[in-house]
Amino acid sequence: MNDTLQLGADGRLRHLLTTEGLPRALLVEILDHAERYAPAAAGGGPRGGVKKLPTLHGKTVVNLFFEASTRTRTTFELAAKRLSADVINLQVGASSTSKGETLLDTLKTLEAMQVDMFVIRHEASGAAHFFARHAAPGVAILNAGDGRHAHPTQALLDMFTIRRHKPDFSKLCVAIVGDALHSRVARSDIHALRTLGAAEIRVVAPRPLVPAGIETLGARVFNALEPGLDGADVVILLRLQKERMVGAFLPSTSEFHRDFGLTRERLARLKPDTLVMHPGPINRGVEIEGDVAYGDHSLILEQVENGIAVRMAVMAMILADAGDRESAMGNREGRGGVAQ
Ligand code: NCD
Repeated sequence: MNDTLQLGADGRLRHLLTTEGLPRALLVEILDHAERYAPAAAGGGPRGGVKKLPTLHGKTVVNLFFEASTRTRTTFELAAKRLSADVINLQVGASSTSKGETLLDTLKTLEAMQVDMFVIRHEASGAAHFFARHAAPGVAILNAGDGRHAHPTQALLDMFTIRRHKPDFSKLCVAIVGDALHSRVARSDIHALRTLGAAEIRVVAPRPLVPAGIETLGARVFNALEPGLDGADVVILLRLQKERMVGAFLPSTSEFHRDFGLTRERLARLKPDTLVMHPGPINRGVEIEGDVAYGDHSLILEQVENGIAVRMAVMAMILADAGDRESAMGNREGRGGVAQ
């Protein structure tokens, strides 16, 4: 997939579609920006953040979700609101039959409302790239998850969360455990970890849940949990994505839990400072025990919270750039046509 689509001719971020090929300097810039947005992301709560920043005042962001979402959609909405953007949430029933034209029609219709940014989640891999290719100049696309392909803001918030606890990626062994086959998070995490120079990236999963060719992305594959977790500094668990499973990938979820579930006993055998992460939603008692999900090692709720700051950073970086481009180009007129 064309990952240069997301960068402008000046090398700056225009859309965020994937972490694949995202230059290291840009990735680090997003994390650094997110660090600065963290107090405002806290929204004037007990930690005393600033309630709203005026950064995106007058901008319109549409959350266009063709798939279910709790934390991603909500944190995108909060991020936009904390930057003073107007936000519209559209939950669209997915149509797998007439994808191409339906998507284009939806895009055209919404563009006519002078939207500045679309945050898109879709069941089809490549949907966000499709939107980016057809979007009018100055309209930004953020990928909030496309099929099994990519979920770049999740990977960025994962990197942000790891960096806050273990800043030197060159010393890190990161084990990604579970249903990597259906996981856009796993792919986006692997690309980001590699770009940040992680010492070792592992995919730990039963054979049927290992994506073909994952080694070529720089991951070592383990088909058993214990060796896969041995020496890991960070364990990223993945949800068993039953909704994406066609046919029988596994004998049963209880067998998966027996062989690959992170239990308290298994966690106790790991290094004392091992970090446990999960993009959510969790399947309690399948890939993770409830006690572990909210235990001492777990960063799961921190990941959710960090999602706001990271999404604020991405939105501000892109829309500020788009604004600059627009003022350089004159005004927003004439952007109603869709490039074919
Ligand atoms: C992930 C997703 O949708 O890809 N969730 C999320 O965005 N927090 C992972 C999942 O659904 O299992």
